[in-house]
Amino acid sequence: MITTLPTQLDANHFDARARQWDENPVFKQRGLKIADAVRKAVPLHRDMNTLDYGCGTGLLSFPLKDELGTILLADSSSGMLEVVAEKITALSITNLTVMKLDLQTDPAPTKKFDLIVTAMTLHHVPDTDHILRVFHDLLNPGGYLCIADLDKEDGSFHGPEVDVHHGFDQADLGRRTAQAGFSDIQFQTVFTINKERETEQKDYPVFLMSGRRAGDKKIPG
Ligand SMILES: C[S@@+](CC[C@H](N)C(=O)[O-])C[C@H]1O[C@@H](n2cnc3c(N)ncnc32)[C@H](O)[C@@H]1O
Repeated sequence: MITTLPTQLDANHFDARARQWDENPVFKQRGLKIADAVRKAVPLHRDMNTLDYGCGTGLLSFPLKDELGTILLADSSSGMLEVVAEKITALSITNLTVMKLDLQTDPAPTKKFDLIVTAMTLHHVPDTDHILRVFHDLLNPGGYLCIADLDKEDGSFHGPEVDVHHGFDQADLGRRTAQAGFSDIQFQTVFTINKERETEQKDYPVFLMSGRRAGDKKIPG
């Protein structure tokens, strides 16, 4: 019998899906709902420099672009970045830039941010504690972190052949985020993804966790 080991969804997987990404209305609606939750959690300001990590085609950054200063859209998939760069050019947007970046292996940018947002990407990053520490170090004192991802699930969201985190237990992620140096950690449920599975329709809730890097520097706003 041949058994296949679960594999991670690497950049090639997302490269291949990038051109069709925006055709999925659920992805678009999810981006809008997460943007609403970010607005609720953070006093957004036109002077805030933001990093959108695992930006995909920009479905979170585009709804927020007129309420923030610069946004750096970073992703490990060249295909996703190609699509988002085309959208930026087509709309003559001046405050969004793109960067190919995998914070697991690449050096972190030297620039610091006032806000980091990341949507549906944390479950693809094996070492959660490491990435939380990197996010912390990338923020200015007083800066905000907003992570949207799946609540803990049974593995059926991606299926057994895919090696990712099966969502996150909110209490456990909150503890890890506090250990990485964040305070004011709060969760809101922002969206529910409904998927057809073998014998049933299943709901997968999506949370937004927000937190703040300690420090004196006053963030704009
Ligand atoms: C499920 S998609 C979400 C895309 C977008 N944030 C959205 O909500 O539509 C996950 C994204 O994370 C990116 N990604 C996965 N692992 C990554 C890593 N280690 N570093 C940077 N980006 C990563 C993928 O290329 C993909 O664009």
